[in-house]
Amino acid sequence: MRFCVAIDGPAASGKGTIARALARHFGFGHLDTGLLYRATGRRVLDGLTPVEAARALRPEDLSRDDLRTAEVGQAASRVAAVPEVRSALLDFQRAFAARDGGAVLDGRDIGTVICPDAEVKLFVTASDEIRARRRMEELAAASQIIAFDDMLADLRARDRRDAGRATAPMRAADDAVTLDTTEMDIATATDAAVAQVAQALTRR
Ligand code: DC
Repeated sequence: MRFCVAIDGPAASGKGTIARALARHFGFGHLDTGLLYRATGRRVLDGLTPVEAARALRPEDLSRDDLRTAEVGQAASRVAAVPEVRSALLDFQRAFAARDGGAVLDGRDIGTVICPDAEVKLFVTASDEIRARRRMEELAAASQIIAFDDMLADLRARDRRDAGRATAPMRAADDAVTLDTTEMDIATATDAAVAQVAQALTRR
């Protein structure tokens, strides 16, 4: 069975947590597409050009343990604006979306470019301040201490670049359901997403 759940939204909106919870709940595969751009950005920081880095990407690069830093997030956002980088990463994502047994992909252009025919499309958002607070706490848990104002500026710069680029900008697909998690805890946000997917499954 092919069944694609497309989840988009800005950094630290909760989309990754929701995507993982959906995959677990329904037994679908999960691809965090941000990791592809982070791994590419990481290799650019190591000296490759963006296009070389994207074309040379191997599955094991995605499990590097140094991809979740703010520095790599910014490098990812910069390489993600290069059209040849995006096209080098397209086939892998589309193949994952079409896998047998169902797939959840989260990113910025899943509902608009990678899986425009996805059975469920969610656009997950939250206020800038709550996203900065969440990301700051996440990084602090990994011993990376960043001040709130710096975190806020970092997220806003990244969102501006991601939403403003010419190729596959971050935006909600016209048929996406928006989930604003500003006032929601994880369980409430996940329940809302599970309900959307369950409803789509009964329509098949
Ligand atoms: O989801 P994330 O914060 O790990 O993503 C890192 C960067 O990668 C993000 O700032 C923009 C880019 N990205 C993208 O352009 N398209 C995607 N589908 C996923 C991520």
